[in-house]
Amino acid sequence: MVTQRRGNPKVNGASAIEKKIKRGNAQRQASGWKWTAGSLLWCAALAVCVVALGWWYFTLDEDVTETLVSRRELLQQPKVFLVQCSEDYENYKRFPGCTPQSCGRAITDTVVTKEEALTLRQLAERGLSLGGSDGGASILDLHSGALSMGKQFVNIYKYSGDKIKDVFSKEDFELYRDVRSRIQRRIAETFGVDSSHMYLTKPTFFSRINSTEAKTAHDEYWHPHIDKVTYGSFDYTSLLYLSDYGSDFGGGRFIFMDASGNRTVEPRAGRVSFFSSGSENLHRVEKVTWGTRYAITVSFTCDPDHAIDNPTLP
Ligand SMILES: *[C@@H]1O[C@H](CO)[C@@H](O)[C@H](O)[C@H]1NC(C)=O
Ligand SMILES: *[C@@H]1O[C@H](CO)[C@@H](O)[C@H](O)[C@H]1NC(C)=O
Repeated sequence: MVTQRRGNPKVNGASAIEKKIKRGNAQRQASGWKWTAGSLLWCAALAVCVVALGWWYFTLDEDVTETLVSRRELLQQPKVFLVQCSEDYENYKRFPGCTPQSCGRAITDTVVTKEEALTLRQLAERGLSLGGSDGGASILDLHSGALSMGKQFVNIYKYSGDKIKDVFSKEDFELYRDVRSRIQRRIAETFGVDSSHMYLTKPTFFSRINSTEAKTAHDEYWHPHIDKVTYGSFDYTSLLYLSDYGSDFGGGRFIFMDASGNRTVEPRAGRVSFFSSGSENLHRVEKVTWGTRYAITVSFTCDPDHAIDNPTLP
């Protein structure tokens, strides 16, 4: 049988043709593989280029001249940047030992611990969960009780009555007061004023910001402003961040808008940024693009007539 087959030219011819076909197929397949491998390489190279370009495009922020402190950095020493005081303070009564003589801005990561910041954030979360602005920028003021609700505000103490004790504890308020006094002392040390001549003023509040579109003017936190102009009583403004830029939320960086460039502070839980409130510190907050940003604004005045008390549970 075998010999017969071998001897059969028809069979031989057929197998020769089969071989040719197989060879052709193999060649085509090989060149196919070559083609696929080549185009894969090209695709990969192209993808790398696209990603790099995209990354470059999205991180390209012509408006930002300098990052004063990035989120990744953990400051062991405060960073202090002194700037010339504006004349805004001349329009108000001066209080020796408190009215800014030395102006500027500073960032410190050693006044409030990350744990304390997270405890305060939980306090903010519990309080703000009772309300919330339609526009994605909500506040909770423990002093006045103001809480964003839809397009307006309610008084959280009246609104939640006795239930408030399930939301905030005595310890929460103690921590808040303690943190506030530490910030006050650090500001006094940095600007060479007397901490006992500084008073807490309003508004001092928790803020929660997400990317939902603004519904009322209260939600438009991103406009450039000068605290001394907006609130005449302010002399020193501080911000305590309760969440992390880049991991809890995107956008939402704090920007000092100087004539020579925009300088940013990237929020980090426990980071305190403070500054003299005059027009030497024109600033804004970038729009939050994703996630939720929590912070506390703690404001100080030199004018005892504008002092407010520490908050207490009703
Ligand atoms: C933002 O917060 C508001 C409440 O203030 C909520 O209604 C809305 O769903 C939130 N948006 C996002 C994108 O999480
Ligand atoms: C700062 O940023 C704003 C927009 O946020 C921009 O209009 C302005 O030109 C920037 N300033 C400088 C000096 O680059």
